[in-house]
Amino acid sequence: MAIVLKTKEEIEIMRRAGQVVARTLDMVAKTIGPGQTTGELDQVIEEFIRDQGAIPGFKGYHGYPASACISIDEEVVHGIPGKRVIREGEIVSVDVGSIMEGFYGDSARTFAVGEISESKARLLENTQRCLAAGIDKARKGNRLGHISAAVQQVAESEGFGIVRALVGHGIGRNMHEDPQVPNFGPKDSGPVLKVGMVLAIEPMINIGTYKVYTKPDGWTYVTEDGLPSAHYEHTVTITENEPDILSLP
Ligand code: MF3
Ligand code: CO
Repeated sequence: MAIVLKTKEEIEIMRRAGQVVARTLDMVAKTIGPGQTTGELDQVIEEFIRDQGAIPGFKGYHGYPASACISIDEEVVHGIPGKRVIREGEIVSVDVGSIMEGFYGDSARTFAVGEISESKARLLENTQRCLAAGIDKARKGNRLGHISAAVQQVAESEGFGIVRALVGHGIGRNMHEDPQVPNFGPKDSGPVLKVGMVLAIEPMINIGTYKVYTKPDGWTYVTEDGLPSAHYEHTVTITENEPDILSLP
């Protein structure tokens, strides 16, 4: 499938979809805490998305049963909210999607619950830097590989494992559009970036091995060695000048 460029008007709709997910994650940042189940948190998220006049983007997507993906510690992404209780010292990745006027917004952050270990704190800091480095390469005239290589360089500078089984993606009227956006790979690869492209850039970074597997629920990815994993994601568009992050409040 070809890469779908968006018009200025479409970008502004996507910005509204992105604002919904950003505000939802800001709400999560304020309310997440020990003792809450991931299922309870998902309920709050769904209500918050709908109150802003948007539709939860993930619910029903390929049969996905919830509004958010909530993945704790060794869970990488696509954790299905349910009875798991959030505990002090855990890191909790919350991935949220929205649909506004037919367009998707998609963003994720990993939250520290209370005091976390030094190694988890380093992981969160590094993964945020991975995302920032990737976004900084989302510029007209660069190749997609510039983004991938920038993310890889930051992660590997601290010896972290880069998840390879999952990648970022183009986004628009569909949550997943071309191109795929890997978090590793050579600079001089992939399509040349053009004004109007919209990409969801989403490094998934592990303290240990890059290897992951899927739990019997068919959705939840976990690290093979059981060590913690972090995930940050923004929806970003290529402009004539600076990268424009659509998933900001
Ligand atoms: N945010 C995820 C992504 O970027 C999508 C979640 S998959 C779903 O690919 F099925 F839960 F929607
Ligand atoms: Co995504």
